[in-house]
Amino acid sequence: MTETTDIGAKHPAYQIRIHNLVKSFNGQRVIDNLCLDIERGRINIIIGGSGQGKSVTMKHLMGLVKPDSGNIFVDGQDIVPLSEYQLNTLRKRFGMVFQYAALFDSMSVFDNIAFPLREHTKKTKGEIKDIIEKVLEAVSLPGIERKFPSELSGGMQKRVGLARALVMEPEILFYDEPTTGLDPIATHNVDALIAETNERFGVTSVVISHDMASTFRIAHRIAMIYGGKIVEKGTPEEFRASENPKVKDFLRFSGILGMGGAV
Ligand SMILES: Nc1ncnc2c1ncn2[C@@H]1O[C@H](COP(=O)(O)OP(=O)(O)OP(=O)(O)O)[C@@H](O)[C@H]1O
Ligand SMILES: [Mg+2]
Repeated sequence: MTETTDIGAKHPAYQIRIHNLVKSFNGQRVIDNLCLDIERGRINIIIGGSGQGKSVTMKHLMGLVKPDSGNIFVDGQDIVPLSEYQLNTLRKRFGMVFQYAALFDSMSVFDNIAFPLREHTKKTKGEIKDIIEKVLEAVSLPGIERKFPSELSGGMQKRVGLARALVMEPEILFYDEPTTGLDPIATHNVDALIAETNERFGVTSVVISHDMASTFRIAHRIAMIYGGKIVEKGTPEEFRASENPKVKDFLRFSGILGMGGAV
């Protein structure tokens, strides 16, 4: 992720380019001239403290929020002026895994995963059954089709949420805090799943995280948001070596840097 310079140009390395994004709510600016490139086929992680603008930025990328000004280019096309109808077409290329798995409680795992396939494709019952069997294997939960969300742990629900996103074969996967609230083992499993999914399906992954240990394990690129701006970006190695006081503080309080500042 690097700062956008040649605006609007399609760039083979960048699937999404955010340029000078500005958004205020009730007169308060929460996204402040934010510029960021998201690398194609890589795991791009956005970090930052609570309330700094991570989720709002991601909602802009999914077309769920319109900016006051600025551009968001997806493969060279500015999505900001698109209508809701056009955005719906675009969103077929996206998968979203939310902080809470957002499964339908009254539906079985099978029906939850089948939902987007029934809504958006013409696949037959037999095809849907095969796809669901395969995707549940891919997220290491084979054979749980008949269970209901209430019978699953939080980590399992997240994996079902990911399975539901994967059946649509998305080009871009968005994850908002996929490991929040999980124990260390479940966190590790979700991390492994994000990395494996990225590798196996070649998707572009955009992940919001609070968890620096997770971030350093799986990120190819990291960007830090502070006050609605990107204050640092680079590879994990570049982040560890950053002299930016905001980054150093964040790493120190996450236990990544010693309190004296040494790694
Ligand atoms: N729909 C909205 N209406 C008004 N204010 C909003 C709205 N959505 C977000 N905000 C405000 O924008 C700021 C950034 O919020 P955002 O949800 O992006 O934070 P975040 O970085 O994701 O934090 P967290 O780590 O706690 O999830 C906050 O001050 C929040 O209160
Ligand atoms: Mg958030």
